[in-house]
Amino acid sequence: MDKKSLLQWYLDAGVDEAIGNEPVQYFSMHAPVSSEVGAITSINTVPVASAHTSSLGTYAPPSPSSTPLHHTPSAAVAMARSLADGARTLEELEETVRAFDGCVIKKTASKTVFSDGNPKARVMIIGEAPGAQEDKEGIPFCGASGQLLDRMFAAIGLSRKNDVYISNSVFWRPPGNRTPNPEESAICLPFVEKHIALIKPALLVLCGGSATTSLLNKDASISRLRGKTYDYTNSYIDSPIKTVVMYHPAYLLRQPGHKRLAWNDLLLVENVLKGLSS
Ligand code: URA
Repeated sequence: MDKKSLLQWYLDAGVDEAIGNEPVQYFSMHAPVSSEVGAITSINTVPVASAHTSSLGTYAPPSPSSTPLHHTPSAAVAMARSLADGARTLEELEETVRAFDGCVIKKTASKTVFSDGNPKARVMIIGEAPGAQEDKEGIPFCGASGQLLDRMFAAIGLSRKNDVYISNSVFWRPPGNRTPNPEESAICLPFVEKHIALIKPALLVLCGGSATTSLLNKDASISRLRGKTYDYTNSYIDSPIKTVVMYHPAYLLRQPGHKRLAWNDLLLVENVLKGLSS
């Protein structure tokens, strides 16, 4: 393989940044002991903030482990669930997600991408996963699809600064911008569920297939699911949240012909919000 094709192969696999000054010969180092393909190694090995006390009492963020643990994906899901259970405020949840080391995509990402917008907004938007720009800046939807998302919501008078709160169904960029796999989504799901419960939006907007499959547990295409409202609930929520499903803006950039349908979805958002406030 010539050098250019080799570089292209790396790029296609998501290796698009040099992250050290010197090459490291990993093959001469000891391989991690892991008996299961896809097993998560080293949960909670990143340094985290120390315990702090608030009006809710003392919150101790997940403690770092000096010895890497070797966990299965189901153990990582269980760990995420118990950490999400323990987060009592948005700040605690963010701290917990940033400290969590149980999802493999965190290893290749440069930043944890938690949220943007107004936490008191009536609308919470959940997208798929951070892309390259989001991974650089640590802000969801700050690249080309985010600009379209902002324009779409501005068309019904909603701004990111005041009227919407934005996050994703996973908090780290999957290598090469691939779709998060079911395992990665399942590991992040307890945090996403708690995130929704803490924000308690009047309306939840799910952008694209990943967020829809993960949160509504429906495997149909967006074309079949859009245009209706759903009652979303999870174990942290005491009353259902009105939810709509929309095409992902990245999809609309590739398929501009579907913008007409997306406009209908925005009108649905507008109508649902009107109905909720009357
Ligand atoms: N696409 C997403 O789904 N989320 C982002 O944050 C950026 C692009």
